Amino acid sequence: MKRISLTQYLVEQQREYGLIPGQLRLLIEVVARACKRIAIAVNKGALGDVLGTAGTANVQGEVQKKLDVISNEVLIEANEWGGHLAAMASEEMDSIHVVPNRYPQGEYMLLFDPLDGSSNIDVNVSIGTIFSVLRKIGHGRGVTEEDFLQPGKQQAAAGYCVYGPQTTLVLTVGNGVAMFTLDRETGSWLLTQHETTIPEDTNEFAINMSNMRHWAPPVKRYIGECLAGSEGPRGKDFNMRWVASMVADVHRILTRGGIFIYPADLKDPSKAGRLRLMYEANPMAFLVEQAGGAATTGRSRLMEVTPSQLHQRVPVFLGSREEVAEAVRYHHAHDNAQG
Ligand code: AHG
Ligand code: MN
Ligand code: MN
Repeated sequence: MKRISLTQYLVEQQREYGLIPGQLRLLIEVVARACKRIAIAVNKGALGDVLGTAGTANVQGEVQKKLDVISNEVLIEANEWGGHLAAMASEEMDSIHVVPNRYPQGEYMLLFDPLDGSSNIDVNVSIGTIFSVLRKIGHGRGVTEEDFLQPGKQQAAAGYCVYGPQTTLVLTVGNGVAMFTLDRETGSWLLTQHETTIPEDTNEFAINMSNMRHWAPPVKRYIGECLAGSEGPRGKDFNMRWVASMVADVHRILTRGGIFIYPADLKDPSKAGRLRLMYEANPMAFLVEQAGGAATTGRSRLMEVTPSQLHQRVPVFLGSREEVAEAVRYHHAHDNAQG
């Protein structure tokens, strides 16, 4: 079977729909190439001395793994010279990285979670890279952190690469979701799925149950009623999956449906959940919506949240449309009862 490459897909999308101008195509190809390099490092594991901690902490106080640092460097190096970017922001960097003066500056801004699922690196479980693309607003060379604070609905593209049994790149430019599998023999990304659709209904949820005692009442009630199964108010049995790599959990949901939840909890009231709006929630929300699913904070659409800080966190409920709507109903019911 003749499969089309990522390059051909991008060229044809531009020809047919005008959605991928030259700089965006270069950007996506560069990110895909960087992911290939990260995939090689991931595969080497202990042989490449890439396991374990780097001995440093990121801006959020999380201990960095060697692969967090390596992946961040790979993405920066690959992207800074091509002329397609004005600046980058990463979960692993305190502040934005403006393209140095020695290179031309492009019209896009790239945000990434270089290595998602860090706790799974050393145990050989699927991990990934998540990215989001925004347009630079305004002209001139200057870029500030404020330029990045755009709601997710303004993303020009988003995607992730999952380093699992297969290495798969999943992409949206606002015209559906396409998946490309890395052919390790030729080094090419080949289109293996387009027109990805998430089933509207599901009976599978993904949440870290160990946090249950810290959840807010509507989340407790929602999951409690899922657990009650066919004898409870939902009238059906639910299954549970939790990989603890958002990329792997979202990849499963894009493949067979489900609801993924990382709520705000009372464990650390200073944090609005665990996941980061700009590096994790927004790109995944864009992909999920483009596949016909829904992505909310539990109360409102994720991609409408206007960020106030680069590294801000947000509660996340995403996946099969009907089930996300159900979870939102629990929040509204709770809010209404409170008056
Ligand atoms: P990261 O490795 O980039 O910090 O992200 C980990 C995230 C996400 O991938 C996953 O869904 C969640 O954290 C796992 O959280 P728990 O440790 O609570 O399971
Ligand atoms: Mn992450
Ligand atoms: Mn990460």
